[in-house]
Amino acid sequence: MRPQNQLHILFSRREIAATVSRLASEIRQDYHEKYPLLIGILKGSFMFLADLIRHLDFPLEVDFIGLASYGKGTQTSGKIKVVQRLQSPIEGREVLVIEDIVDTGLTTAFCLDYLRREKPASLKLCALTDKPSRRQVPVTIDYLGFTVPNKFLVGYGLDLNQKFRNLPDICFIEEED
Ligand code: IMP
Repeated sequence: MRPQNQLHILFSRREIAATVSRLASEIRQDYHEKYPLLIGILKGSFMFLADLIRHLDFPLEVDFIGLASYGKGTQTSGKIKVVQRLQSPIEGREVLVIEDIVDTGLTTAFCLDYLRREKPASLKLCALTDKPSRRQVPVTIDYLGFTVPNKFLVGYGLDLNQKFRNLPDICFIEEED
């Protein structure tokens, strides 16, 4: 028999909503007079970013950058490339990067280095989830939602081979016979 993927809820939609609201208050305090540019890392951050900015009642802009790090399955290839460029110049802007998950840190560190070269006025990171047990390179997370265990997560934008992004809860996945 083929193994089945079993999904277990780690954070419910209600817990996620409370955390997104808490993060928005923190971001509001620091950015409400700064006209920030929020940059979502595609694809995983789209749902988080969409929910987050609904709480931010001050002027801001949104852009996206597409980075690819993973091949198929749950293992990183270690190689990161830009697959979709930013549309707006970021020189002199107050930039806040929005990430779904910091795992090995390779993608986020690459992204921050890449953006830093464009000379933003400031550059900070907001991550919904952090898996510190897997870290290979140091990453400073300025606004953090959840610290998560070393399990593969799906839902709320996170995927496994492009599936499960549409789940409203964050789940972990286990292969069971
Ligand atoms: P890192 O470069 O290892 O930190 O991984 C960053 C990217 O890998 C994230 O933006 C996700 O796209 C993907 N990723 C890492 N861990 C998970 C996971 O548990 N579920 C889904 N995607 C993940």
